[in-house]
Amino acid sequence: GQAVAVEQVILTGKLLDVRSGKYRENQALLVEQGRISAIVAAKDAPADVPVLDWSAYHVLPGLIDMHVHLTSDPNKHGYRALAETPAREAIYGVKAAEATLKAGFTTVRNLGAGGFSDVALRDAIDEGEIAGPRMRTAARTLCITGGHCDNNLLPHIYRANSGGVANGPDEIRAKVRENIKYGADVIKFTATGGVLSKNTDVNASQYNLEEMTALIEEAHDRGRIVAAHAHGLQGIKRAIQAGVDSIEHGSFIDDDAIALAKKHGTYLVMDVYVSDFILSEGEKAGILPESLEKEKKVGLIQRQNFQKAVKAGVKMAFGTDAGVYQHGLNARQFAYMVQWGMTPLQAIQAATLNAGTLLNWKNDQGQQNVGVAEVGAFADLIALKADPLQHIKQLEQPAAVVKAGLLVQ
Ligand code: ARG
Repeated sequence: GQAVAVEQVILTGKLLDVRSGKYRENQALLVEQGRISAIVAAKDAPADVPVLDWSAYHVLPGLIDMHVHLTSDPNKHGYRALAETPAREAIYGVKAAEATLKAGFTTVRNLGAGGFSDVALRDAIDEGEIAGPRMRTAARTLCITGGHCDNNLLPHIYRANSGGVANGPDEIRAKVRENIKYGADVIKFTATGGVLSKNTDVNASQYNLEEMTALIEEAHDRGRIVAAHAHGLQGIKRAIQAGVDSIEHGSFIDDDAIALAKKHGTYLVMDVYVSDFILSEGEKAGILPESLEKEKKVGLIQRQNFQKAVKAGVKMAFGTDAGVYQHGLNARQFAYMVQWGMTPLQAIQAATLNAGTLLNWKNDQGQQNVGVAEVGAFADLIALKADPLQHIKQLEQPAAVVKAGLLVQ
């Protein structure tokens, strides 16, 4: 290939190797075309290129949130959401994207949006028009008629339903294909009812095994990973059996399902912070009374089951459901993950190495694009004033953020 000039050097005081959990002292990251092209001792860094001096900081790969909804406004829950258009949501997303990036999240997986507002947002970020994290986006969440992803707020005379509704293997395959046609990078479906949808039961399964298997085969054939929203046990198990890549929420997972997830290599993405927001501020935000009641039955058990799953050694990735609550507060979940059984390193790995691995997003040489500060990866990094392995809440206030080698201002 053609030789490309080093554009930038980033000097790091302590660079965390998220694989080993060890810091490497005084390294220099060389940046070419937005990627890390080499890592050398600081004293050997080329002298003739601009330097970003982070030698006073603890430096980590940029964080990844595997479950956000950048186009969702946390003040517009329940019936308030009915007044939103995809265009309005995309514009809201501009603000949410910037807040998320400034909080140190340089990549997000966006798990569901209406009218392809998320695709528009991703493209505006990729084209450099607006500031935001790299987005791997799902477009419309798939579900059954009346399911968690459907619009169940209005009576039949209004014929309201959401764009992701698909029933039976054939409709499901067509819907996956259509999502991909219009820009989806990943696929999301709901395998059980949810907390924030009207008239759905968190314990009731949505889609039968045949439907899930068709959905996942169709997505995998096209190189897309699949995320399943699942609170109830049967839906969790069924989605794992069908070959899903990650279980979102996972609230009522038990020992058997934990063993099944381990056997299949399925990741759990458990949003163990959001319950606090729903129960304290949800009513003001328009969340339906029936949803508040459901949350009271889910939140604590989910955290206890998270602890069980951590102990059992299931693969975990970091995901918050930001959009249900304020964008930019994503990192608050780290302290909860540590409180409920993870070491600080495990919590950091969930939001870096593991998330990047689950995304299965690679460069031409087969190297991981995100989640690691390694040669070949995008130069996405955060700087912290103190050691997050000692003080997990440091992650809530990065001193500086870099995306593609450029300082986020
Ligand atoms: N979007 C999810 C749902 O409506 C949010 C669940 C939040 N609660 C929780 N304990 N994680 O089901």
